[in-house]
Amino acid sequence: MIIIMLGAPGTGKGTVAALLEGELGYKQVSTGDIFRKNIQEGTELGKLADSYISKGQLVPDDVTINIVASRLEEPDVQEGIILDGFPRTVAQAEALDDILAKKGKKVDMVLNLTTPEEEIIERVVSRRICSNQQCKTVYNVVMNPPKQEGICDKCGAKLVQRQDDNEETIKSRIATYMEQTSPLVEYYQNKGVLRTEEVSQRINHLGKDVADEVVRDINK
Ligand code: AP5
Ligand code: MG
Repeated sequence: MIIIMLGAPGTGKGTVAALLEGELGYKQVSTGDIFRKNIQEGTELGKLADSYISKGQLVPDDVTINIVASRLEEPDVQEGIILDGFPRTVAQAEALDDILAKKGKKVDMVLNLTTPEEEIIERVVSRRICSNQQCKTVYNVVMNPPKQEGICDKCGAKLVQRQDDNEETIKSRIATYMEQTSPLVEYYQNKGVLRTEEVSQRINHLGKDVADEVVRDINK
């Protein structure tokens, strides 16, 4: 089963994908996480990705598509995968369709998360993530704080803030989403696989509710 998490920055793609991974057993693969790992390790890919991510722009399609194409060959994702943050352009979506068609597969569900823009900015500037690459648990110092300040509840590692989680960069990330990624809503709607869910504290519909509903429908 191929599930795609679509949505503007900070709508909760990573949070919902991690819940779905726990319930369904399919791996969450986040292109953002792959780039951040490479930035942390100082690889050539990391240097290239950093020059785009720090400005809130997308990493070029050819680079990103190649990374996902090779990840899709690995044994742990043959039963299913939750793609978090890919595709992000129509060119990436078309490339993914081609790669999957060659394997006799297709995109089964696109979960499109929406959240009001003011809430996105609040969430992103108060997000903290576990620095342990094996853990990467996401916290929020306002909405979902760790038990001990600055320390991961699950593994005890230090919590850090993403370098693109500041007010200036998040505004640019939202603009990039509107311009280059939002056309995918129509792309997947036309394919009949889009499921849109508003994830907002204000309407009291949270990521956990969305994940539970999706799991219930898949297991029906
Ligand atoms: P990426 O890492 O994918 O970042 P993003 O799309 O900007 O999304 P985020 O990870 O910021 O948010 P999220 O939706 O996962 O929300 P989260 O669950 O953490 O990409 C980073 C960069 O890499 C891009 O800008 C681009 O440069 C590059 N890149 C990545 N993929 C690419 C691609 N395919 N092509 C080209 N370039 C690519 O939640 C956010 C916060 O809100 C957390 O603090 C969380 O605790 C909190 N929260 C979550 N849900 C709720 C809720 N329901 N109520 C209250 N708080 C909540
Ligand atoms: Mg994320």
